[in-house]
Amino acid sequence: MSLSDKALNSIYLVYKSWPEVEEYLTDCKGIILPIGSTEQHGPTGAIGTDALTAEGVALEVGKRTGVLVTPTQSFGMAEHHLGFAGTISLKPSTLLAVMHDLVVSLARHGFERIFVINGHGGNIATVKAAFAEVYGSAVLRGLPVASKLRCRLVNWFMVEEVRREAKLLYGEEEGSHATPSEIAVTLHLESSLLNKQRILPPPKSSGFIAGPEDFRRRYPDGRMGSNPFLAKPEHGASLLDIAATAISKDLSNFLLET
Ligand code: NI
Repeated sequence: MSLSDKALNSIYLVYKSWPEVEEYLTDCKGIILPIGSTEQHGPTGAIGTDALTAEGVALEVGKRTGVLVTPTQSFGMAEHHLGFAGTISLKPSTLLAVMHDLVVSLARHGFERIFVINGHGGNIATVKAAFAEVYGSAVLRGLPVASKLRCRLVNWFMVEEVRREAKLLYGEEEGSHATPSEIAVTLHLESSLLNKQRILPPPKSSGFIAGPEDFRRRYPDGRMGSNPFLAKPEHGASLLDIAATAISKDLSNFLLET
C-alpha cells in the first residue's frame, strides 16, 4: 500500500467499519459529501467530469484535514444536457429528495457539520433548497443534533483563487461549460483521458437555454464558450492544489463555527 492509499483509507467512508465511524464521531462531527454530475462535457471531455473533479477535490481536502469523505453523489441536475448521449440527470425535485435523505442520514448518526463540495453549477439551487428542508426535518424528527446542524455548499470551480488561476491560464477561453480548467483536473486525475484531446473549432455561444433541445441548438457540440484543448494535466494538478488549499481553510473555519 502506498502512502497516498493509507491517507485515502483513513478518510474515505467507503473503507470504514461502523465502529470506526462511531469512534471518529467522538472526536470530529464534520463530514465531506462530494456531488457532481454525469453529463456531456463537449466533444472531448469525459461525461463524468463534474463527479471526477468534485471527488478529486473532496478526497484531497479530506487527506489534508482528516475529515471523512462520503462516496460521491455522481448524478446531479443535468436536465439541460439531456440532448447529448450519455448524460444522466435527476430532476431538481429528485435531487432535492436525494440530498435531503443523504444529509438526514448523516445527521441521525451525530454529524453536525455537512460540507458539500460541488462540481456542477446546475446543482447549486437544488442543494441549497435541500439544506432548507434538512433543517426543518431535523427539528421535526427530533434529531439530537438539530440545533447544532449546519450544512455548507462549496463550489470548487467558483473558489476565488481557482477562478483567478483559470483566468491566468486560459483568459476568455475558459468559457462556462466544458471549461479547460475542469478538463485539466480530469486529465491530472486520469491520464487516459489525454487521448481524447484535440483541437476544436471556435465554440458557438448564445444566451438563454430553455431545455435540452434548445441547448443543443445553441451549443451544437456541447461546449459553452470554452476551449478545452488548452487543458494540461499539470494545470489540473495546480488547480486541484489551489482548490484544496482554499477549501481546507474554509472547512476548518466551518468546523469551528457555532
Ligand atoms: Ni462541468
